[in-house]
Amino acid sequence: MEFNEYGLRAAFQGKKIGCPLYFFDRAESTNSLIFGLAEEGAPEGTLVIADRQTNGRGRMKRSWHSPPGVNLYSSVILKPDIDPSAAPAIALMAGVAVAELLTVYCPSTVHLKWPNDVLVGGKKICGVLSEIKISGKKIMFVILGIGININMQSADFDPSLGDTATSLREEAKRMFSRVEVAVKLFDNISKYYDIFTSSGFAPIKEKWLCYSPMVGRDCEVLSGHDLLRGKVAGIDDGGALVMVDDDGRAQRILAGDASIVKG
Ligand code: BTN
Repeated sequence: MEFNEYGLRAAFQGKKIGCPLYFFDRAESTNSLIFGLAEEGAPEGTLVIADRQTNGRGRMKRSWHSPPGVNLYSSVILKPDIDPSAAPAIALMAGVAVAELLTVYCPSTVHLKWPNDVLVGGKKICGVLSEIKISGKKIMFVILGIGININMQSADFDPSLGDTATSLREEAKRMFSRVEVAVKLFDNISKYYDIFTSSGFAPIKEKWLCYSPMVGRDCEVLSGHDLLRGKVAGIDDGGALVMVDDDGRAQRILAGDASIVKG
C-alpha cells in the first residue's frame, strides 16, 4: 500500500486509532497540527501522519530531524479519563508498545531509556513527545507524537546526531513498508492503551522494566539545571524515575535526560 492519504486510510479502516486519519505531504509538526484539531473537538483516535516535518519537535525543546520519503512522523489524540498526575505514564506506555513492535524486527537489541527513548543497539531509533491540555483537574486531551526512523540510511542522518541515531533499515538490513509499520505501531498502542485505561500503568511498568537496562545501575539525570546522581531503583506507577542517592534517600524524578554512568 502506498504511503499516502488513500493507502493509509484504507490500511486503518475500522481501527480504533486512525479513524479519522489525516495525511500531509508536509507538516510543520504533526503534534502542533493535531493539537489544533483536538482544540476544535476532534475525537479520541484521530491520527495525523506526515511524510515530512519542517519543524519536527522533540523533548526539551529539541528538534526532530524529519526528512521526506523515509520515516514515520505521527500523532494521535487520546482522551483518557484519569487524574492528570497519571498522564506522564502514557509516554512510557508508548515506549513499551514501540519496543515490543521493534523487537519483532530486531530481536534482543531493543532497549528503553527513561523516560521514553527507544534504542536499538544502543542508538536512538524512536522518540515520543506527549503533550497535554488540562482544564481544572480534567484532562481535555493528550497528544501522543511518535517518530520512528524507518528507511533512513546512515548518510541521511543529521551530522549533529553523530553516531547516536539509527533506523530500522540500518539495523535489519532491509527496507520496510511505512504503512505496515504505522498500522502495527498503532495496533500495539491501542492494545496497551486499553490495558492502561482499564488497569493503570502497573502491568505495563513490568514490561517497561524488562526493556530497560537502567534498573540497579548508577545513573545521572539532568533535570532542569540540576544534575542528579544515584542508583536507579525503578519507576513508579506514574512513570517517574525512582533513584536512590548515596545516603539512601529515594527521589522521584518527573522529567529529565538520563544516562547510565559507565565504570
Ligand atoms: C524526542 O525524542 O525528543 C521526541 C521526538 C518526537 C518526534 C515526533 S515526530 C511526530 C511528532 N511530531 C513532532 O513534532 N514530534 C513528534
